[in-house]
Amino acid sequence: MFDRFNRRIHYLRISVTDRCNLRCQYCMPAEGVPLFCHEDLLTLEEIRDFTAVAVEMGVDKVRLTGGEPLLRRGIVDLVRMLAEIPGIRDLAMTTNGTLLDRYAADLRAAGLMRVNVSMDSYIPERFAEITRGGKLSVVQEGIAAARAAGFENIKLNCVIESSTDEEDARSVARFGAVERLEVRYIHRMHTDKGIFKPVIGGEGGHCASCNRMRLTATGLVTPCLFSNQSWSVRQLGAREALLAALAAKPESGQTSHHLFSQMGG
Ligand code: 5AD
Ligand code: SF4
Repeated sequence: MFDRFNRRIHYLRISVTDRCNLRCQYCMPAEGVPLFCHEDLLTLEEIRDFTAVAVEMGVDKVRLTGGEPLLRRGIVDLVRMLAEIPGIRDLAMTTNGTLLDRYAADLRAAGLMRVNVSMDSYIPERFAEITRGGKLSVVQEGIAAARAAGFENIKLNCVIESSTDEEDARSVARFGAVERLEVRYIHRMHTDKGIFKPVIGGEGGHCASCNRMRLTATGLVTPCLFSNQSWSVRQLGAREALLAALAAKPESGQTSHHLFSQMGG
């Protein structure tokens, strides 16, 4: 599918839950945010059916995000259901890594192709500070488990304030070099101010070549992280919601009131 600006839209990012077991400073307030109720979340079958329609319409790349996707009950089943849809050439997940130790092997067996793990500092005290209590060693074990499960091309997502020269960013670069993991630096975004910059070493943030559509955990299709417009899959059906979002996809991001934990990073 193509939007008004002739961009080919073929990358679907699906947020499967707004819950998270960390409280990263740039993402959530310390006390957390009001959570969606369970009935409002799309069921696994609804997510599968939506994705199948999106794939028929041209999506060939799917990423599961959150919140923390591994907190969604049935996540392994969902991966299996999505992996069975013919036409997806890339099925990936962005996770904070804290539960990978438990899930990596099952995810791999279910057909997940790739994982990106968030790591904003490789200095344990700083990691705990940024995530408000997260343990770096647990994430490291998660990455090791993902490797052992056969995942290749594991990437690290590192949020930076302004430069890759920041101490936290450099610590992640060193870890990445030692472990031979690719690091992608993501500028800290301020959705309410419409401030965003390209991902360093990644494809995000370049409006002119944006290929994305998003589905929130409650079933809203959104054309852009920096947009307040969304269309409900339950109200409109998958195809109509996708077409409406496609028609409204902005040329470049504006501002939005979305929370990252609800929209997916
Ligand atoms: N700016 C940039 N990235 C963010 N994420 C969450 N909040 C922000 C923000 N304010 C992204 C990070 C993290 C992922 C889960 O969500 O990339 O790794
Ligand atoms: Fe959780 Fe990711 Fe937000 Fe951190 S950035 S609080 S790990 S959803």
